[in-house]
Amino acid sequence: MRPSVYLDYNATQPIRPAVRDAMIDVLSGPTNASSVHRLGQNARARVEQARASVAALIGAEPGEILFTSGATEANATALAGTGLGHVVVSAVEHPSVRGFRDAAVLPVDGNGLIELATLDRMLGDIGEPALVSVMLANNETGVIQPVAEAARIVHAHGGLLHSDAAQAPGRIPVDVRALDVDLMTLSAHKMAGPQGAGALYIRDGVPLTPLLRGGGQEKRRRGGTENVAALVGFGVAADLAGQGPDLAALRDNLEQRLAAAAPEITVHGALAPRLGNTSCFGSPGLLAETALIALDLAGIAVSSGAACSSGAVEPSPVLLAMGVPEARAREAIRVSLGWATTPEEVDHLVESWSIVYRRTKAA
Ligand SMILES: Cc1ncc(COP(=O)(O)O)c(C=O)c1O
Repeated sequence: MRPSVYLDYNATQPIRPAVRDAMIDVLSGPTNASSVHRLGQNARARVEQARASVAALIGAEPGEILFTSGATEANATALAGTGLGHVVVSAVEHPSVRGFRDAAVLPVDGNGLIELATLDRMLGDIGEPALVSVMLANNETGVIQPVAEAARIVHAHGGLLHSDAAQAPGRIPVDVRALDVDLMTLSAHKMAGPQGAGALYIRDGVPLTPLLRGGGQEKRRRGGTENVAALVGFGVAADLAGQGPDLAALRDNLEQRLAAAAPEITVHGALAPRLGNTSCFGSPGLLAETALIALDLAGIAVSSGAACSSGAVEPSPVLLAMGVPEARAREAIRVSLGWATTPEEVDHLVESWSIVYRRTKAA
């Protein structure tokens, strides 16, 4: 069941109709892309077509794309697979990166941006090549990291740079050569494809030990029968990524109207480069949980912090890492727009939120 107004695209995107149709077509027959018979060859061709689409989306070669079950697996493969003994991750990474064993943590400033001078100093102190993981765009605030600059520093120290770009394609241009990353994570359901499919870009020549061993699929880099329908859907989603309304205009309009109604609101990461679809804001005295429930009753789906951690009512570690006081972090809600968002939906959000906020202030 979908609420009438879905504004939680960073948690997952509604699948595009063309993606669904392509997947249903695949699901109507048996498909094992490793089978030698004609059905298998057909499945293989469709998987390779999807690989070419995903590669084209980020300026890579198809042979540099390793398909996975999603961004979580791609992140785990990247972090564990390079063989480098030192791992540094930014303080605002998704939990699938942030929790990596013994990783040193690279701080961010009050705008949510990594501190490049600190990165340089940390790598100098480590004194050996390290794997550094810096996300391209944050899932909670939308803040876009200076990944190309980070890559320059990491390479000067002889290390490798991994970037979790799950939230970026279709929202900003993503080019692995311009960013000069060695490894990059993608997720199909963050670009209107299906859940359970993702990819790891592995720059040609970067050695990587598989996380999952098995039947030799994915050129022996990942065991397990390919999820053909999901990968085909991923390919179609990659072809269509970015198609839709001008989200930055809608988001800016939203923030202007919220600020006009309540000048005291804080938009987190507002001074940094941000994804045009994302707004993470809080208003004094209105707890995120209260706002979420009230908006849900009004038929509007938004999020507090990351969806993955919103089961627990903990303040967002991303906001805390930015120096946001705990009380303010507990008020932050995330609105994320996408390909099917309309101006009327934004109107409905502003009106409903204003009612909830006025009620809180009057209480
Ligand atoms: C930045 C980021 N990385 C990784 C993930 C995990 O993605 P997946 O659901 O494909 O495993 C998410 C999902 O919330 C995300 O936003």
